[in-house]
Amino acid sequence: MAREPMIAPSLLSADFTRLAEESERVADADWLHFDVMDGHFVPNLTFGLPVMQALQAVSPVPLDCHLMIENPGRWAPGYAEAGARNVTVHAEACTDPRAVARDIRAGGALAGLALKPETSLDHYLDVLHDFDTLLIMTVEPGFGGQSFIEEVLPKVRRARQLVDTGHLSLFVEVDGGVNGDTIEQAAEAGADVFVAGSAVYGADDPAKAIAALRARAAAAMTG
Ligand code: DX5
Ligand code: ZN
Repeated sequence: MAREPMIAPSLLSADFTRLAEESERVADADWLHFDVMDGHFVPNLTFGLPVMQALQAVSPVPLDCHLMIENPGRWAPGYAEAGARNVTVHAEACTDPRAVARDIRAGGALAGLALKPETSLDHYLDVLHDFDTLLIMTVEPGFGGQSFIEEVLPKVRRARQLVDTGHLSLFVEVDGGVNGDTIEQAAEAGADVFVAGSAVYGADDPAKAIAALRARAAAAMTG
């Protein structure tokens, strides 16, 4: 049951004037996390599809698009069609998550469902059969550099249990406040994809930071 940790640096903490170079600095990451915010679903605004398309053309790392937007069904397929590896929408913003998953997959990407810290996993168990990724937020979405909310760990444990017992088949991704310390707790609880913004781009050497995070997660998974 060996799981391989996947590290997904978040561009939210990168230098926005140099996105191509910033993607190259994390070339050995598994996914490059691209946080789309619309100023409505979350109180912050970042970048959207045209920027993603420009980055997609040059990034050595597959893009993991996290849409923190209202009406995600309208936009999510465009990110898939543009070549994203994974496109994640928020459960709280979807009226019909299954339809959105279908459209994302039809566009050629993996489909992800994100849950805010207070959103219950059990409410979405049926729907999650149509998804490839479950993104469990370990901070309130909207900003980088916040502290990891440990109270969310039981939700990660429950998700891992459901995957290990064959009830679900998906990546369990955590996002928010993941650093050298908290990654061990998240990995031990059962996450296998780790988003890290400030812990990677805030480091002097992002490549080294990725290697260190990967090693810590791997040790916690086997330990
Ligand atoms: C927050 C974003 C995160 C953010 C994580 O709403 O979804 O992806 O970039 O940043 P850190 O790792 O600094 O908490
Ligand atoms: Zn994110």
